[in-house]
Amino acid sequence: MSVPVLIADELTKHYSVSQGLFKPAASVRALNGVSFSVNAGETLAVVGESGCGKSTLARALTLIETPSSGDLMIDGIDVARANKREQKQLRQQVQMVFQNPYASLNPRQKIASQLAEPLLINTALNAAERRDKVHAMMAQVGLRQEHDQRYPHMFSGGQRQRIAIARAMMLQPKVLIADEPTSALDVSIQAQVLNLFMDLQQQLGTAYVFISHNLSVVRHVANQVMVMYLGRAVEVGPSESLYQRPLHPYTRALLSATPHIHPDPTRVKIRLEGELPNPLSPPSGCAFHLRCPHASERCRSEQPALRSLDDRQVACHHAETIA
Ligand SMILES: Nc1ncnc2c1ncn2[C@@H]1O[C@H](COP(=O)(O)OP(=O)(O)OP(=O)(O)O)[C@@H](O)[C@H]1O
Ligand SMILES: [Mg+2]
Repeated sequence: MSVPVLIADELTKHYSVSQGLFKPAASVRALNGVSFSVNAGETLAVVGESGCGKSTLARALTLIETPSSGDLMIDGIDVARANKREQKQLRQQVQMVFQNPYASLNPRQKIASQLAEPLLINTALNAAERRDKVHAMMAQVGLRQEHDQRYPHMFSGGQRQRIAIARAMMLQPKVLIADEPTSALDVSIQAQVLNLFMDLQQQLGTAYVFISHNLSVVRHVANQVMVMYLGRAVEVGPSESLYQRPLHPYTRALLSATPHIHPDPTRVKIRLEGELPNPLSPPSGCAFHLRCPHASERCRSEQPALRSLDDRQVACHHAETIA
């Protein structure tokens, strides 16, 4: 039986932003009550346009920022109530891979010592044991161990991302949060790096939260997909069925925007008009109603709650009639 290693319950993050002199500070609701759980060895993909709160969620999950409210359980530990020892344990159990590997690696430190650092800080291994582990991990991510005395700039972009992944995996974390990990890479390299993520997950049983603005990138890595719009989940469900039959108009629009190798002439292209609304003054009712082709009077006034429909959760008043 699979066990959830990451459970988020109504996670919320509000930022207070200054509007200028003599004006009261406004609040950006970057994350607005997001709930999900991820099992060991499985992947939740988080998808949505720029500014919908994906990185804010990543920062909350990796304990970089404290949520304004909501609960987070990682590996059975309630993050908000964790004592010092549990907090240290949590920091080892959750690791992160960023979009730009060059920014997350130290340019002046050799790869061997960057990869050994987590072991030096968190384990009692001696130098020889650390070196062996570093070499084993380098082999596991497809790097040659004789390159361990190189600096980050001596590698290609794809190799650098492999190094960042190796570093995140050094302590065999239970949870890995990857925020747009392939967006900065050449298209030909993206698939290789995605395959590496999948291989490592199979070998180590890590739970992934995989963030991307591109639904087609996550299609083959995700078990579950969560589509976000303006800080909220609008549709959550098993990957295959969500791609086969998206229920929320926003998911449908995102899917119709992704290019296909074998274009289906019967497929209707949905154009998303307008931009993501200003998060400082979100629209009334359903946040998507200004751009939605199916919006009704009810959508303008009443915010749809996330509710169960078929094998999915969806936040749309008209999901039954438009699907
Ligand atoms: N520290 C902060 N202070 C104020 N507002 C913030 C802060 N961080 C993020 N925001 C706001 O929160 C919202 C969500 O931002 P976030 O970075 O999570 O989006 P994102 O989905 O990761 O976007 P992208 O795809 O561009 O990376 C945005 O409106 C952003 O301006
Ligand atoms: Mg982001």
